[in-house]
Amino acid sequence: MARIGVFDSGAGGITVLHEAMRMLQAPEYLYYMDRAHVPYGTKTVEEITRYAKEAVSFLRGEGADLVVLACNTATSAAANTLRAAFDFPIVGMEPAVKPALALSPEGERERVLVLATPLTLKEKKLADLVARFDAAHRVDLLAMPRLVSFAEEGRFDTGEVRAYLEETLRETERERYRAVVPGCTHFLYFLPLLKELFPAETAWIDGTEGTVRRIAELLGLPAEGRALTGEVTYYDAGRKITEEKELERIAALHARLEEIGR
Ligand code: DGL
Repeated sequence: MARIGVFDSGAGGITVLHEAMRMLQAPEYLYYMDRAHVPYGTKTVEEITRYAKEAVSFLRGEGADLVVLACNTATSAAANTLRAAFDFPIVGMEPAVKPALALSPEGERERVLVLATPLTLKEKKLADLVARFDAAHRVDLLAMPRLVSFAEEGRFDTGEVRAYLEETLRETERERYRAVVPGCTHFLYFLPLLKELFPAETAWIDGTEGTVRRIAELLGLPAEGRALTGEVTYYDAGRKITEEKELERIAALHARLEEIGR
């Protein structure tokens, strides 16, 4: 039976785990979060690479057949280094810029907005991706680092979250966007609130399903189940999480995803 390692700084990767548990047939999951160092989005490439290496090597040691970096930030900082250092599949995530640009513009609605952490937005990986597909210069970038801590605190729909979103988007001409790309796994918990702030016609494109399809392909698994299946062991760095309170916090993240139809 395949054993899939899922790594994120914290709560964001649960969005990928949840989708994998829906789509794949009962494999076993090892979920690694790094609560001592979250958020990654405001750290340096060197720091993130060090944390990510520790995570991947721990998951490998626990028998993972593949590791998914369920974190756009860790992917942009460390995916290349990790792939050179390990001899098993490492699946990364990057903002879904290409499918967003493939949608044809509708009148004034022609631009694409990428929401991500400051690190993802300033790294070469995203710059290269945009340079490759955005000949017409239609892509804009916007950082929303506070959403990472809101997700970590389990605050999804509070006055403070709403005020932060409104403030961050104040200068953004929202009617001009054909598509918005949430390029950070932590941001997906806030999709219903974000969608309220854009015109109904705006398309929302994230890479979660594509990432799970890639895992399925690499492991030779079918990818069409719809009921949540799979055994998960959760780790905070190298420590197995067993405390009731911590497990409840994780259950609340899965519950939020169910609530918003993920
Ligand atoms: N979940 C991560 C991502 O997809 C980043 C969160 C963080 O800043 O730690 O980019």
